Amino acid sequence: MECQVTFVEATAMPARTVLVTGGAGYVGSHAVVQLLSQGHEVVVVDNLVNAPRGNDAASPLTECLRRVQEIAGKTLNFHQMDIMDRSQLDRVFACYSFDYVMHFAALKAVGESVEKPLLYYKNNVGGSITLLEAMKDHNVKKLIYSSSATVYGTPQKLPLTEDHPTGVNCTNPYGKSKYFVEEILKDLVTSDKEWRAVSLRYFNPVGAHESGLIGEDPQGVPSNLMPYIAQVAVGRRPRLQVFGDDYDTPDGTGVRDYIHIQDLAVGHLAAARKLLDPCFQGFRAYNLGTGSGLSVLQLVQAFEKASGRQVPYEVVGRRPGDIAYCYSSASLAKRELGWQAQKGVDEMCESVWRWQSKNPNGYRSS
Ligand SMILES: NC(=O)c1ccc[n+]([C@@H]2O[C@H](COP(=O)([O-])OP(=O)(O)OC[C@H]3O[C@@H](n4cnc5c(N)ncnc54)[C@H](O)[C@@H]3O)[C@@H](O)[C@H]2O)c1
Repeated sequence: MECQVTFVEATAMPARTVLVTGGAGYVGSHAVVQLLSQGHEVVVVDNLVNAPRGNDAASPLTECLRRVQEIAGKTLNFHQMDIMDRSQLDRVFACYSFDYVMHFAALKAVGESVEKPLLYYKNNVGGSITLLEAMKDHNVKKLIYSSSATVYGTPQKLPLTEDHPTGVNCTNPYGKSKYFVEEILKDLVTSDKEWRAVSLRYFNPVGAHESGLIGEDPQGVPSNLMPYIAQVAVGRRPRLQVFGDDYDTPDGTGVRDYIHIQDLAVGHLAAARKLLDPCFQGFRAYNLGTGSGLSVLQLVQAFEKASGRQVPYEVVGRRPGDIAYCYSSASLAKRELGWQAQKGVDEMCESVWRWQSKNPNGYRSS
């Protein structure tokens, strides 16, 4: 494996070398833009299981990562590999001297996880264990983990605070895989005081980079609401299906806490500052959400306003396991990370529309 070293400009924060697993995906790519823009050296590993290569198969980078470099005006290092492959991980760890790891790589389709639980546990839990073993052996013991609001299961109390029980009523293997890895991280930091881990529990990431160059590019039928709405607006799909309009909410549709992807990416930099603070020890989980909710129909209306297009929809039956409300308390991240979401629903929808209208077929159209 070739070792490339990229020299970066000095910035106020000391430049770090960061391993980013799953950095060719939706959330990871936006975090990589932030890291590069702040002058850090970034090494992405991704097996591309859920990241399209783009049209130029001969390029060493995916189309998404090429655009990440274009936005940041900096280069990154990319290795196409699976985090379950310990020998490949060892080669990457031997090539660089990492300060910490941001771990995004996972499979994330809730429905698929119900059909293929072993695949999800092997990839998300097994892959995380293999990564942690490699980190331990190469003495890189600082991790930022992509967790999810799904670890809370069905909310017993709203807004969801970080001390809400986790793992209880987690109804699908995907959510459980996120919960299991958090538990593994807690045990790991207890066993060895050198380990530090920050788990970021995302609520509903939406939006795209303001340039319209990178955004969410689901493979096949989108399982999340926002990319589905965007594909309807751009004419790729005839209509949106709204799962139930008889919930106990103002307009009867489900309410969720949507967070702009750029706010989420900035949240990772805030978490990295925490992780590297010499006073920080052990494991800490933070919600990354806005602290308030939007209904399905509110999101549809905001998208119609942003795009000037109609988003036809039909109401169908509720989906099993869906709940009326889910939203975060965002106060712990504000207090301890100095981070707070800045962007509202209009910016979320405008950025998605810019991305979707410029790239109706995602990264494949370029
Ligand atoms: N997007 C969301 O709605 C959401 C919400 C909560 C949590 N998360 C978590 O955030 C993280 C990133 O999510 P995303 O939306 O960017 O998903 P994504 O699928 O766009 O990105 C994940 C990336 O990981 C890669 N990957 C998967 N398994 C791998 C493996 N074994 N080895 C190497 N690479 C592998 C995929 O190719 C993909 O590029 C995931 O851990 C996900 O569980 C996402």
